[in-house]
Amino acid sequence: PQPLPPPIKDTSEKLVNDFAHPFKPLRPHDIRGPCPGLNTLASHGYLPRSGVVTPAQIITAVQEGYNLGHQFASFLCYTAFLTDGNHLTNLMTIGQNTTTHGHPTTGLNTHGHFEGDASMSRDDAYLGNNINFNETLFDAVCTSYRLSKLQQTAVGGGLLTLDAIVLNRQIRIQDSIARNPQFAFETPRFLGAIAESAFIFAMFVSGQTADNKKPLTIDAVRHFFDFHRLPHGFHRRQGPFDFPLVENLTYSIVDMAGAKPGSNNGVNNYIVNTQDLGTFCYVYQKQINFTATLYPNPTPKLRDAIKQNMLTYYQALGDPKCKQYFPFGK
Ligand code: HEM
Ligand code: MG
Repeated sequence: PQPLPPPIKDTSEKLVNDFAHPFKPLRPHDIRGPCPGLNTLASHGYLPRSGVVTPAQIITAVQEGYNLGHQFASFLCYTAFLTDGNHLTNLMTIGQNTTTHGHPTTGLNTHGHFEGDASMSRDDAYLGNNINFNETLFDAVCTSYRLSKLQQTAVGGGLLTLDAIVLNRQIRIQDSIARNPQFAFETPRFLGAIAESAFIFAMFVSGQTADNKKPLTIDAVRHFFDFHRLPHGFHRRQGPFDFPLVENLTYSIVDMAGAKPGSNNGVNNYIVNTQDLGTFCYVYQKQINFTATLYPNPTPKLRDAIKQNMLTYYQALGDPKCKQYFPFGK
């Protein structure tokens, strides 16, 4: 296990699609996956272009490339790494599992660990391909764009405003309710999906202001979601997007969309889970306990490594009001 890397020093807005980080097309064994943010960083060399990465590389790259705040970046990274990473080698892929390095390296593709349903640009695992870009779903982004354009001609000038992002979130949830009998939308997927809507608004806008006042363009969304490529001249946002900001924007999208955690019991039969707290503390709690179920019989060495990563995860959460859990003992 690794300790958390230090925060980056300079968090000002700056050009990130620069000469030092050119886009390069995929080589035969390069791995990409369900996260347009990480795919793009790998395609520009902010992350290893192979797509095989360590937690510290992810935490540093998302700060460098997008100005995601150090605390939230660490939290998000370990939310995924605990269930999708290799605790002994400290490696994880940003997509499929691989053995090209001699030992098995697992990755972000695994459905139900972090990847989940009602994504904006990838289908539900039950319905088909949950990893690759899907043009039909991207149409829903364009639909919310056109609707926002109708509503906003006077002010927004036809750009993706927060209303359009919220509308797209609702469309994606309704679509999964209608078509996926096994639609699963409980924490952590519930908050993950909503936070990802917040992410595109806060970090896929070139030079986004600290209070997220600039609207998003369809063209930028296409670049990240489909091409895994930074738009020409792309600048990271002004100042870090970190915990209270991420929480506030995420919870306001939850409210505006009227989203509730739950799951389908057959199509068009969405059961709200009233026990699901839908908070970031609860993401931590669920992911810690889920990780313990994934490793029922660890060797002592593996057990120590997982315990260490669980401590790092709690440190990354950084909220003393959240209860700490020790499924493998203290
Ligand atoms: C989706 C992991 C950072 C933007 C995902 C998914 C995973 C993931 C596993 C798939 C979830 C799903 O849709 O089913 C991570 C990890 C990160 C990270 C471990 C580490 C810090 C970022 C950053 C951005 C970003 C920095 C934006 C700047 C997105 C978006 C989606 C997504 C927009 C949703 C795609 C869609 O709905 O089609 N991420 N991500 N991620 N990620 Fe990331
Ligand atoms: Mg998904």
